[in-house]
Amino acid sequence: MAIRNIVKIGDDVLRKVCRTQLTFDDKLHQILDDMKDTLEEAQGAGLAAPQIGILRRYCIVDVGDGLVELINPVIVSQEGSQTGDEGCLSIPSRYETVTRPMKVTVRAQDRNGNSFTIMGEGLKARAFCHEIDHLDGVLYIDKSDNKTKSIKFGRK
Ligand code: NI
Repeated sequence: MAIRNIVKIGDDVLRKVCRTQLTFDDKLHQILDDMKDTLEEAQGAGLAAPQIGILRRYCIVDVGDGLVELINPVIVSQEGSQTGDEGCLSIPSRYETVTRPMKVTVRAQDRNGNSFTIMGEGLKARAFCHEIDHLDGVLYIDKSDNKTKSIKFGRK
């Protein structure tokens, strides 16, 4: 396991549409394990493959209640809405207000290729939407309610 370098805004890799992950082998497992370490170290809520330079459709989410690995995820239903601050490990020291669904249901595969459905509410729904957007080259700042004013934090 290893910490991977997180790609920062300005790199074209964050704007590409990722391709379907077709193999569920040791190589994928290794990358997912590295992503877990990288996410923990960065203290984020989620990380998508393109953020470590891999243009494949998978991401991980951990909002404090356990790690979720989503391979080829698709949002199959959504409900309600929530408006709140959002950040991204690829866009350091910046937070903006984004409106997202309050509840989403995601269909995905696990690291062995088995299909499953998972529901997320609140912060988890926000994280699912944010990470799945990354797989299509979409960043939260594209959807921000306050594009013009970004809150700068002291660190970095
Ligand atoms: Ni992000």
